[in-house]
Amino acid sequence: MAESRGQWGSRLGFILAAAGSAIGLGNIWKFPYITGENGGGLFVLIYLVCIALVGLPIMMAEIMIGRAAQKSPVGAFRALSRPGSPWALAGGLGVVTAFVILSYYSVVAGWAMHYTWLSLTDTFAGRTPDEIGAIFGAVYGSEEINALWHLIFMGATISIVIAGIRGGIELWSRILMPALFLILLILFVYAMQSEGFGQAVEFVFAPHAGDLTAAGVLEALGHSFFTLSLGMGAMITYGSYLQRDEDLVTTSVTVSVLDTAVALLACLVLFPIIFSADLEPAAGPGLVFRSIPIALSQMPGGMVLAPLFFLLLTFAALTSAISLLEVAASYFIDERGWSRTKATLATGGLITLLGLPSAMSGGSRMFGQGVTDLTAPLLKLLGRDAGMNWFDFFDYLASNWMLPIGGMLIALFVAWRVGDAAREQAFTAGTRFGRIYWTWVFLLRFIVPVGVFAVFLHAIGVI
Ligand code: PHE
Repeated sequence: MAESRGQWGSRLGFILAAAGSAIGLGNIWKFPYITGENGGGLFVLIYLVCIALVGLPIMMAEIMIGRAAQKSPVGAFRALSRPGSPWALAGGLGVVTAFVILSYYSVVAGWAMHYTWLSLTDTFAGRTPDEIGAIFGAVYGSEEINALWHLIFMGATISIVIAGIRGGIELWSRILMPALFLILLILFVYAMQSEGFGQAVEFVFAPHAGDLTAAGVLEALGHSFFTLSLGMGAMITYGSYLQRDEDLVTTSVTVSVLDTAVALLACLVLFPIIFSADLEPAAGPGLVFRSIPIALSQMPGGMVLAPLFFLLLTFAALTSAISLLEVAASYFIDERGWSRTKATLATGGLITLLGLPSAMSGGSRMFGQGVTDLTAPLLKLLGRDAGMNWFDFFDYLASNWMLPIGGMLIALFVAWRVGDAAREQAFTAGTRFGRIYWTWVFLLRFIVPVGVFAVFLHAIGVI
Protein backbone atom coordinates (compact mmCIF):
# COMPACT_ATOMS: atom_id res chain seq x y z
CA MET A 1 0.00 0.00 0.00
CA ALA A 2 2.98 2.28 0.53
CA GLU A 3 2.87 3.85 -2.94
CA SER A 4 -0.76 4.84 -2.61
CA ARG A 5 -0.12 6.75 0.64
CA GLY A 6 0.39 10.44 0.04
CA GLN A 7 3.53 12.48 0.68
CA TRP A 8 3.97 16.17 1.30
CA GLY A 9 5.14 18.07 -1.75
CA SER A 10 7.76 19.99 0.21
CA ARG A 11 9.01 20.70 3.70
CA LEU A 12 7.27 24.09 3.69
CA GLY A 13 4.03 22.32 2.77
CA PHE A 14 4.38 20.06 5.79
CA ILE A 15 5.20 22.97 8.10
CA LEU A 16 2.18 24.96 6.91
CA ALA A 17 -0.11 21.94 7.28
CA ALA A 18 1.20 21.08 10.75
CA ALA A 19 1.04 24.73 11.81
CA GLY A 20 -2.46 24.80 10.32
CA SER A 21 -3.41 21.89 12.55
CA ALA A 22 -1.90 23.47 15.63
CA ILE A 23 -3.18 27.00 15.04
CA GLY A 24 -6.91 26.93 15.53
CA LEU A 25 -9.77 27.85 17.79
CA GLY A 26 -7.44 26.94 20.65
CA ASN A 27 -5.23 29.92 19.85
CA ILE A 28 -7.68 32.61 18.87
CA TRP A 29 -10.83 31.70 20.77
CA LYS A 30 -9.69 29.74 23.82
CA PHE A 31 -6.24 31.06 24.74
CA PRO A 32 -7.33 34.71 25.07
CA TYR A 33 -10.30 33.86 27.25
CA ILE A 34 -8.38 31.57 29.61
CA THR A 35 -5.63 34.19 29.80
CA GLY A 36 -8.32 36.73 30.71
CA GLU A 37 -9.80 34.45 33.35
CA ASN A 38 -6.40 33.70 34.89
CA GLY A 39 -5.28 37.29 35.16
CA GLY A 40 -2.76 37.53 32.31
CA GLY A 41 1.06 37.71 32.69
CA LEU A 42 2.02 34.90 35.04
CA PHE A 43 -0.39 32.48 33.40
CA VAL A 44 1.15 33.28 30.01
CA LEU A 45 4.63 32.67 31.38
CA ILE A 46 3.66 29.27 32.79
CA TYR A 47 1.98 28.36 29.51
CA LEU A 48 5.23 29.16 27.68
CA VAL A 49 7.16 26.91 30.05
CA CYS A 50 4.63 24.07 29.45
CA ILE A 51 4.96 24.44 25.69
CA ALA A 52 8.75 24.23 25.91
CA LEU A 53 9.10 21.40 28.45
CA VAL A 54 6.05 19.22 27.69
CA GLY A 55 4.51 20.21 24.36
CA LEU A 56 7.63 20.44 22.26
CA PRO A 57 9.12 17.07 23.35
CA ILE A 58 5.78 15.32 22.67
CA MET A 59 5.51 17.02 19.28
CA MET A 60 8.95 15.64 18.38
CA ALA A 61 7.94 12.20 19.67
CA GLU A 62 4.75 12.17 17.59
CA ILE A 63 6.36 13.32 14.36
CA MET A 64 9.15 10.82 14.96
CA ILE A 65 6.73 7.89 15.39
CA GLY A 66 4.84 8.77 12.23
CA ARG A 67 7.92 9.46 10.16
CA ALA A 68 9.65 6.26 11.26
CA ALA A 69 6.61 4.01 10.71
CA GLN A 70 5.16 5.80 7.65
CA LYS A 71 1.74 4.91 9.03
CA SER A 72 -1.16 6.54 10.83
CA PRO A 73 -1.36 6.05 14.64
CA VAL A 74 -2.74 2.51 15.00
CA GLY A 75 -0.40 1.05 12.40
CA ALA A 76 2.50 3.16 13.68
CA PHE A 77 2.25 1.87 17.25
CA ARG A 78 1.90 -1.64 15.88
CA ALA A 79 4.91 -1.29 13.59
CA LEU A 80 7.16 -0.03 16.37
CA SER A 81 6.18 -2.62 18.99
CA ARG A 82 5.93 -6.39 19.13
CA PRO A 83 3.15 -8.15 17.17
CA GLY A 84 -0.10 -8.29 19.12
CA SER A 85 1.15 -5.67 21.56
CA PRO A 86 -1.58 -3.63 23.32
CA TRP A 87 0.16 -0.41 22.28
CA ALA A 88 -1.98 -0.36 19.13
CA LEU A 89 -4.83 0.59 21.49
CA ALA A 90 -3.06 3.88 22.16
CA GLY A 91 -3.42 4.61 18.47
CA GLY A 92 -7.06 3.53 18.60
CA LEU A 93 -7.69 6.00 21.42
CA GLY A 94 -6.37 8.73 19.12
CA VAL A 95 -8.85 7.78 16.40
CA VAL A 96 -11.74 7.89 18.87
CA THR A 97 -10.49 11.24 20.18
CA ALA A 98 -10.53 12.63 16.65
CA PHE A 99 -14.25 11.76 16.38
CA VAL A 100 -15.02 13.36 19.74
CA ILE A 101 -13.09 16.60 19.19
CA LEU A 102 -14.11 17.29 15.62
CA SER A 103 -17.79 16.72 16.41
CA TYR A 104 -17.98 19.75 18.73
CA TYR A 105 -15.07 21.73 17.25
CA SER A 106 -17.16 22.07 14.11
CA VAL A 107 -19.96 23.72 16.11
CA VAL A 108 -17.64 26.45 17.42
CA ALA A 109 -16.29 26.87 13.89
CA GLY A 110 -19.92 27.31 12.87
CA TRP A 111 -20.25 30.25 15.27
CA ALA A 112 -17.21 31.81 13.63
CA MET A 113 -18.83 31.40 10.19
CA HIS A 114 -22.15 32.71 11.42
CA TYR A 115 -20.45 35.76 12.93
CA THR A 116 -18.55 36.37 9.69
CA TRP A 117 -21.92 36.43 7.97
CA LEU A 118 -23.56 38.61 10.65
CA SER A 119 -20.78 41.17 10.51
CA LEU A 120 -20.73 41.21 6.71
CA THR A 121 -24.46 41.94 6.69
CA ASP A 122 -24.04 44.80 9.19
CA THR A 123 -26.12 43.13 11.90
CA PHE A 124 -24.14 44.80 14.69
CA ALA A 125 -24.36 48.38 13.37
CA GLY A 126 -26.32 50.80 15.49
CA ARG A 127 -27.01 48.34 18.31
CA THR A 128 -26.27 48.82 21.98
CA PRO A 129 -23.62 46.64 23.67
CA ASP A 130 -26.36 44.77 25.51
CA GLU A 131 -28.17 43.97 22.31
CA ILE A 132 -24.97 42.74 20.64
CA GLY A 133 -24.12 40.62 23.66
CA ALA A 134 -27.59 39.08 23.57
CA ILE A 135 -27.05 37.92 19.97
CA PHE A 136 -24.55 35.32 21.18
CA GLY A 137 -27.10 33.86 23.56
CA ALA A 138 -29.65 33.69 20.76
CA VAL A 139 -27.17 31.97 18.42
CA TYR A 140 -26.14 29.49 21.08
CA GLY A 141 -29.77 28.66 21.75
CA SER A 142 -30.78 28.13 18.12
CA GLU A 143 -30.79 24.52 16.96
CA GLU A 144 -31.32 25.51 13.32
CA ILE A 145 -28.45 28.00 13.07
CA ASN A 146 -25.99 25.67 14.78
CA ALA A 147 -27.00 22.59 12.83
CA LEU A 148 -26.87 24.43 9.51
CA TRP A 149 -23.35 25.85 9.98
CA HIS A 150 -22.15 22.57 11.43
CA LEU A 151 -23.25 20.81 8.22
CA ILE A 152 -21.62 23.45 6.03
CA PHE A 153 -18.35 23.38 7.96
CA MET A 154 -18.18 19.57 7.96
CA GLY A 155 -18.93 19.60 4.23
CA ALA A 156 -15.95 21.90 3.62
CA THR A 157 -13.69 19.79 5.83
CA ILE A 158 -14.71 16.55 4.09
CA SER A 159 -14.15 18.00 0.60
CA ILE A 160 -10.60 19.06 1.44
CA VAL A 161 -9.64 15.72 3.03
CA ILE A 162 -11.10 13.75 0.11
CA ALA A 163 -8.74 15.62 -2.21
CA GLY A 164 -5.79 14.00 -0.43
CA ILE A 165 -2.51 15.03 1.15
CA ARG A 166 -0.95 17.14 -1.56
CA GLY A 167 -4.02 18.19 -3.53
CA GLY A 168 -6.22 18.80 -0.48
CA ILE A 169 -4.60 19.33 2.90
CA GLU A 170 -1.31 20.81 1.70
CA LEU A 171 -2.89 22.95 -1.00
CA TRP A 172 -5.45 24.48 1.33
CA SER A 173 -2.91 24.99 4.10
CA ARG A 174 -0.74 26.87 1.61
CA ILE A 175 -3.65 29.16 0.79
CA LEU A 176 -5.32 29.59 4.18
CA MET A 177 -2.26 29.90 6.44
CA PRO A 178 -0.67 32.89 4.68
CA ALA A 179 -4.13 34.49 4.53
CA LEU A 180 -4.45 33.92 8.25
CA PHE A 181 -1.05 35.47 8.99
CA LEU A 182 -1.90 38.47 6.83
CA ILE A 183 -5.28 39.08 8.48
CA LEU A 184 -3.73 38.74 11.91
CA LEU A 185 -1.06 41.27 10.99
CA ILE A 186 -3.64 43.78 9.73
CA LEU A 187 -5.63 43.41 12.94
CA PHE A 188 -2.46 43.72 15.01
CA VAL A 189 -1.41 46.98 13.33
CA TYR A 190 -4.89 48.32 14.01
CA ALA A 191 -4.84 47.19 17.66
CA MET A 192 -1.39 48.73 18.17
CA GLN A 193 -2.83 52.15 17.47
CA SER A 194 -5.72 51.86 19.87
CA GLU A 195 -5.50 53.49 23.28
CA GLY A 196 -5.76 50.20 25.16
CA PHE A 197 -2.57 48.76 23.63
CA GLY A 198 -0.20 49.69 26.47
CA GLN A 199 -2.59 48.29 29.04
CA ALA A 200 -2.94 45.08 27.03
CA VAL A 201 0.82 44.54 26.76
CA GLU A 202 1.06 45.06 30.47
CA PHE A 203 -1.78 42.59 31.07
CA VAL A 204 -0.34 39.85 28.83
CA PHE A 205 3.34 40.12 29.75
CA ALA A 206 3.76 41.57 33.23
CA PRO A 207 3.48 38.93 35.97
CA HIS A 208 0.69 39.71 38.42
CA ALA A 209 1.44 37.07 41.00
CA GLY A 210 -1.80 37.39 42.95
CA ASP A 211 -4.15 36.28 40.18
CA LEU A 212 -2.89 32.80 39.42
CA THR A 213 -4.30 29.70 41.13
CA ALA A 214 -3.10 26.07 41.09
CA ALA A 215 -6.01 25.30 38.77
CA GLY A 216 -4.66 27.94 36.40
CA VAL A 217 -1.26 26.25 36.26
CA LEU A 218 -2.87 22.97 35.29
CA GLU A 219 -5.14 24.66 32.80
CA ALA A 220 -2.01 26.03 31.12
CA LEU A 221 -0.55 22.52 30.91
CA GLY A 222 -3.74 20.97 29.52
CA HIS A 223 -4.05 23.72 26.98
CA SER A 224 -0.51 23.13 25.73
CA PHE A 225 -1.71 19.72 24.45
CA PHE A 226 -4.81 21.02 22.81
CA THR A 227 -3.18 23.99 21.13
CA LEU A 228 -0.32 21.97 19.64
CA SER A 229 -2.71 19.20 18.45
CA LEU A 230 -0.96 16.66 20.66
CA GLY A 231 -2.11 13.47 22.34
CA MET A 232 -4.32 11.99 19.61
CA GLY A 233 -1.97 11.25 16.77
CA ALA A 234 -2.58 14.22 14.48
CA MET A 235 1.17 14.87 14.39
CA ILE A 236 1.87 11.13 14.02
CA THR A 237 -0.41 11.11 10.99
CA TYR A 238 1.06 14.27 9.44
CA GLY A 239 4.58 12.99 10.24
CA SER A 240 3.82 9.77 8.38
CA TYR A 241 3.65 11.70 5.11
CA LEU A 242 7.19 13.05 5.65
CA GLN A 243 10.31 11.59 4.17
CA ARG A 244 12.53 9.83 6.70
CA ASP A 245 15.40 12.29 6.28
CA GLU A 246 13.33 15.37 7.13
CA ASP A 247 14.62 17.41 10.08
CA LEU A 248 12.47 16.59 13.10
CA VAL A 249 13.86 19.21 15.47
CA THR A 250 13.68 22.21 13.17
CA THR A 251 10.17 21.42 11.97
CA SER A 252 8.80 20.80 15.51
CA VAL A 253 10.37 23.99 16.82
CA THR A 254 9.04 26.00 13.87
CA VAL A 255 5.50 24.70 14.31
CA SER A 256 5.53 25.31 18.08
CA VAL A 257 6.94 28.81 17.70
CA LEU A 258 4.36 29.72 15.04
CA ASP A 259 1.56 28.36 17.21
CA THR A 260 2.75 30.30 20.25
CA ALA A 261 3.27 33.48 18.25
CA VAL A 262 -0.29 33.34 16.94
CA ALA A 263 -1.70 32.75 20.44
CA LEU A 264 0.19 35.77 21.80
CA LEU A 265 -0.69 37.92 18.81
CA ALA A 266 -4.34 36.99 19.21
CA CYS A 267 -4.14 38.34 22.77
CA LEU A 268 -2.42 41.49 21.54
CA VAL A 269 -5.23 42.01 19.04
CA LEU A 270 -8.09 41.24 21.41
CA PHE A 271 -7.11 42.84 24.69
CA PRO A 272 -6.30 46.32 23.31
CA ILE A 273 -9.73 46.34 21.66
CA ILE A 274 -11.37 45.05 24.82
CA PHE A 275 -9.61 47.55 27.09
CA SER A 276 -10.24 50.47 24.72
CA ALA A 277 -13.97 49.74 24.86
CA ASP A 278 -13.89 49.29 28.64
CA LEU A 279 -14.97 45.64 28.52
CA GLU A 280 -14.11 42.83 30.92
CA PRO A 281 -11.17 40.51 29.97
CA ALA A 282 -12.52 37.69 32.15
CA ALA A 283 -15.74 37.19 30.18
CA GLY A 284 -15.32 33.44 29.56
CA PRO A 285 -16.01 31.43 26.36
CA GLY A 286 -18.22 34.14 24.87
CA LEU A 287 -15.26 36.57 24.99
CA VAL A 288 -14.51 36.88 21.27
CA PHE A 289 -18.11 36.49 20.14
CA ARG A 290 -19.43 39.19 22.44
CA SER A 291 -16.49 41.56 22.82
CA ILE A 292 -15.25 41.81 19.25
CA PRO A 293 -18.56 42.96 17.72
CA ILE A 294 -19.30 45.24 20.69
CA ALA A 295 -15.86 46.84 20.68
CA LEU A 296 -15.50 47.12 16.93
CA SER A 297 -18.98 48.55 16.43
CA GLN A 298 -17.78 51.58 18.45
CA MET A 299 -14.45 52.02 16.67
CA PRO A 300 -13.46 53.58 13.37
CA GLY A 301 -12.98 50.90 10.73
CA GLY A 302 -14.74 48.34 12.89
CA MET A 303 -17.22 47.37 10.20
CA VAL A 304 -14.38 46.08 8.02
CA LEU A 305 -12.36 44.56 10.82
CA ALA A 306 -15.10 42.49 12.43
CA PRO A 307 -15.71 40.26 9.38
CA LEU A 308 -11.93 39.98 8.92
CA PHE A 309 -11.54 38.79 12.49
CA PHE A 310 -14.23 36.11 12.16
CA LEU A 311 -12.87 35.03 8.81
CA LEU A 312 -9.50 34.57 10.52
CA LEU A 313 -11.18 32.38 13.14
CA THR A 314 -12.93 30.33 10.43
CA PHE A 315 -9.70 29.71 8.47
CA ALA A 316 -7.85 28.74 11.61
CA ALA A 317 -10.61 26.28 12.53
CA LEU A 318 -10.73 24.74 9.05
CA THR A 319 -7.02 23.84 8.85
CA SER A 320 -7.30 22.22 12.30
CA ALA A 321 -10.48 20.35 11.44
CA ILE A 322 -8.90 18.74 8.37
CA SER A 323 -6.14 17.31 10.55
CA LEU A 324 -8.73 15.81 12.91
CA LEU A 325 -10.65 14.22 10.05
CA GLU A 326 -7.40 12.99 8.47
CA VAL A 327 -6.61 11.00 11.64
CA ALA A 328 -9.99 9.27 11.50
CA ALA A 329 -9.96 8.69 7.74
CA SER A 330 -6.33 7.52 7.52
CA TYR A 331 -7.05 4.74 9.99
CA PHE A 332 -9.53 3.20 7.55
CA ILE A 333 -7.25 3.88 4.59
CA ASP A 334 -4.10 2.39 6.13
CA GLU A 335 -5.54 -0.37 8.29
CA ARG A 336 -8.70 -1.40 6.46
CA GLY A 337 -7.61 -0.73 2.91
CA TRP A 338 -10.54 1.59 2.15
CA SER A 339 -10.26 4.16 -0.61
CA ARG A 340 -9.70 7.75 0.54
CA THR A 341 -13.10 8.82 -0.71
CA LYS A 342 -14.95 6.04 1.06
CA ALA A 343 -12.99 6.45 4.31
CA THR A 344 -13.43 10.23 4.37
CA LEU A 345 -17.15 10.14 3.58
CA ALA A 346 -17.81 7.44 6.17
CA THR A 347 -15.83 9.00 9.01
CA GLY A 348 -16.84 12.55 8.11
CA GLY A 349 -20.49 11.51 7.90
CA LEU A 350 -20.37 9.81 11.27
CA ILE A 351 -18.67 12.79 12.89
CA THR A 352 -21.30 15.08 11.40
CA LEU A 353 -24.03 12.97 13.03
CA LEU A 354 -22.15 12.83 16.31
CA GLY A 355 -21.88 16.62 16.25
CA LEU A 356 -25.59 17.27 15.80
CA PRO A 357 -26.34 16.85 19.52
CA SER A 358 -23.54 19.35 20.24
CA ALA A 359 -25.06 21.75 17.75
CA MET A 360 -28.36 21.39 19.57
CA SER A 361 -27.04 21.52 23.12
CA GLY A 362 -28.00 25.14 23.60
CA GLY A 363 -31.50 24.79 22.17
CA SER A 364 -32.78 21.29 22.79
CA ARG A 365 -34.03 20.09 26.15
CA MET A 366 -32.83 16.57 25.52
CA PHE A 367 -29.18 17.36 24.73
CA GLY A 368 -29.10 20.37 27.04
CA GLN A 369 -30.82 19.79 30.35
CA GLY A 370 -31.39 16.09 29.71
CA VAL A 371 -27.72 15.25 29.25
CA THR A 372 -26.79 17.64 32.06
CA ASP A 373 -28.91 15.60 34.46
CA LEU A 374 -27.52 12.38 33.05
CA THR A 375 -23.87 13.37 33.47
CA ALA A 376 -24.24 14.95 36.90
CA PRO A 377 -23.59 11.77 38.96
CA LEU A 378 -20.52 10.83 36.92
CA LEU A 379 -19.10 14.33 37.10
CA LYS A 380 -19.72 14.46 40.85
CA LEU A 381 -17.47 11.41 41.17
CA LEU A 382 -14.82 13.36 39.27
CA GLY A 383 -15.01 16.25 41.68
CA ARG A 384 -17.31 18.54 39.66
CA ASP A 385 -20.39 19.99 41.26
CA ALA A 386 -22.75 19.96 38.28
CA GLY A 387 -23.56 18.04 35.12
CA MET A 388 -22.75 19.26 31.61
CA ASN A 389 -24.70 19.39 28.39
CA TRP A 390 -23.55 17.23 25.47
CA PHE A 391 -21.33 19.92 23.97
CA ASP A 392 -19.55 20.85 27.22
CA PHE A 393 -19.20 17.22 28.19
CA PHE A 394 -17.45 16.28 24.95
CA ASP A 395 -15.08 19.23 25.29
CA TYR A 396 -14.36 18.30 28.90
CA LEU A 397 -13.82 14.63 28.06
CA ALA A 398 -11.45 15.37 25.21
CA SER A 399 -9.29 18.12 26.66
CA ASN A 400 -9.15 16.95 30.27
CA TRP A 401 -8.91 13.21 29.74
CA MET A 402 -8.40 11.88 26.24
CA LEU A 403 -5.60 14.22 25.10
CA PRO A 404 -3.54 14.04 28.31
CA ILE A 405 -3.92 10.23 28.46
CA GLY A 406 -2.95 9.98 24.80
CA GLY A 407 0.00 12.35 25.25
CA MET A 408 1.23 10.45 28.27
CA LEU A 409 1.01 7.12 26.41
CA ILE A 410 2.94 8.55 23.47
CA ALA A 411 5.66 9.87 25.81
CA LEU A 412 5.87 6.59 27.74
CA PHE A 413 5.95 4.56 24.55
CA VAL A 414 8.78 6.51 22.99
CA ALA A 415 10.74 6.98 26.21
CA TRP A 416 10.48 3.48 27.67
CA ARG A 417 9.24 1.04 25.02
CA VAL A 418 11.11 1.89 21.84
CA GLY A 419 14.63 0.47 22.07
CA ASP A 420 17.51 2.88 22.73
CA ALA A 421 19.28 2.30 19.45
CA ALA A 422 16.14 2.58 17.31
CA ARG A 423 15.01 5.69 19.17
CA GLU A 424 18.32 7.45 18.82
CA GLN A 425 18.55 6.54 15.18
CA ALA A 426 15.01 7.73 14.47
CA PHE A 427 15.51 10.99 16.34
CA THR A 428 18.86 11.97 14.88
CA ALA A 429 18.11 11.03 11.24
CA GLY A 430 18.23 14.21 9.20
CA THR A 431 18.81 16.73 11.99
CA ARG A 432 21.80 18.87 12.91
CA PHE A 433 20.59 19.01 16.50
CA GLY A 434 21.35 15.45 17.56
CA ARG A 435 23.08 16.78 20.69
CA ILE A 436 19.75 17.58 22.34
CA TYR A 437 18.78 13.90 22.13
CA TRP A 438 19.36 13.09 25.79
CA THR A 439 17.64 16.24 27.02
CA TRP A 440 14.61 15.21 24.97
CA VAL A 441 14.65 11.67 26.36
CA PHE A 442 14.93 13.04 29.90
CA LEU A 443 11.92 15.32 29.40
CA LEU A 444 9.84 12.47 27.99
CA ARG A 445 10.86 10.02 30.70
CA PHE A 446 10.31 12.18 33.74
CA ILE A 447 9.01 15.70 33.25
CA VAL A 448 6.11 14.83 30.92
CA PRO A 449 4.67 11.96 33.01
CA VAL A 450 4.86 13.96 36.24
CA GLY A 451 3.28 16.99 34.60
CA VAL A 452 0.46 15.01 33.04
CA PHE A 453 -0.19 13.12 36.24
CA ALA A 454 -0.69 16.46 37.92
CA VAL A 455 -3.37 17.29 35.31
CA PHE A 456 -5.25 14.12 36.20
CA LEU A 457 -5.12 14.78 39.91
CA HIS A 458 -6.47 18.22 39.17
CA ALA A 459 -9.22 16.84 36.95
CA ILE A 460 -10.52 14.60 39.73
CA GLY A 461 -10.27 17.45 42.20
CA VAL A 462 -7.38 16.11 44.32
CA ILE A 463 -5.22 19.18 43.73
N1 PHE B 1 -4.77 22.56 17.89
C1 PHE B 1 -6.11 22.87 17.52
C2 PHE B 1 -6.47 24.24 18.07
O1 PHE B 1 -5.69 24.87 18.75
C3 PHE B 1 -7.09 21.85 18.01
C4 PHE B 1 -6.72 20.43 17.73
C5 PHE B 1 -6.54 19.54 18.78
C6 PHE B 1 -6.51 19.99 16.43
C7 PHE B 1 -6.14 18.25 18.55
C8 PHE B 1 -6.12 18.68 16.18
C9 PHE B 1 -5.93 17.82 17.24
O2 PHE B 1 -7.54 24.73 17.86
